[in-house]
Amino acid sequence: MDISGRTVLIAGGTSGIGLGLARRFADAGSTVVVGGRGTGRIDDLETVKIDVTDPGSVLLARDEVLAHHPGLDVVVTMSGVMLVEDLRDPAHIAQAETTVATNLLGTIRVIDAFTPHLIERGGGTIVTVTSGIAFLPFPLMPTYGASKAGVHAYTESLRAQLAGTGVEVTELVPPAVATAGQEKVNPAALPLEGFLDEVVELISENPTPDEILVKGVHQHRWAERDGTYAGLVERRSRSLETLPGRS
Ligand SMILES: NC(=O)c1ccc[n+]([C@@H]2O[C@H](COP(=O)([O-])OP(=O)(O)OC[C@H]3O[C@@H](n4cnc5c(N)ncnc54)[C@H](OP(=O)(O)O)[C@@H]3O)[C@@H](O)[C@H]2O)c1
Repeated sequence: MDISGRTVLIAGGTSGIGLGLARRFADAGSTVVVGGRGTGRIDDLETVKIDVTDPGSVLLARDEVLAHHPGLDVVVTMSGVMLVEDLRDPAHIAQAETTVATNLLGTIRVIDAFTPHLIERGGGTIVTVTSGIAFLPFPLMPTYGASKAGVHAYTESLRAQLAGTGVEVTELVPPAVATAGQEKVNPAALPLEGFLDEVVELISENPTPDEILVKGVHQHRWAERDGTYAGLVERRSRSLETLPGRS
């Protein structure tokens, strides 16, 4: 896809990867609106308040964005939370509910809000955001992995359902990136700007790839195919030792 001259909404663009991607689109000459609950910290981009767990908020945001930008042609569903859960403690259900409401239902709500507009235009791009963890579990974040695997499956069906409308669907699959506190706990997390360099190169290909896979996520994406899955899950399970009461 061409990332210049587009009109872009990034829901979940108020920090981290979303904000970085928003600035890349803006630098390339696109008009960008970033959405989230905490828009106050952004002073270099247009913002819209949106809480993707609240259906009314999503519709209000849609109406505001389309009123100002009737030519909107790119929607990125970046909003997400990454929560640790201890499945031996039933209290984890609170984190599970927040995760599904934000990452999975929130993604579906944002897509639903803008799909009729994009179909009516006869063209545009929906960018969903999953994770390497959608393809290779990280046992410390069980519902997170489930939510992102769900978004992957949903994306595949969405692409099939929108075929022939002119609306393309691509899935960004980040590995660990040094945002949202990852930089403090995961030395392997990719520096944001280097990650974005790769993303911009891949997403700019024509035709747009179905999946945006930077080199660092290939080991997750292809673990089952490559026969490395069981060993990697075992290795990644060592992170469970960091939970209270485990060693
Ligand atoms: N960093 C990584 O290692 C990594 C790896 C794979 C995938 N990802 C995915 O990449 C995306 C961005 O992650 P990040 O690392 O950039 O994290 P981040 O800095 O915490 O950004 C998360 C974004 O989601 C928004 N958000 C959270 N809850 C929301 C809600 N209820 N309604 C609307 N927006 C909401 C936040 O905005 P407000 O707080 O302003 O609402 C923020 O803009 C997420 O989907 C994440 O799962 C990240």
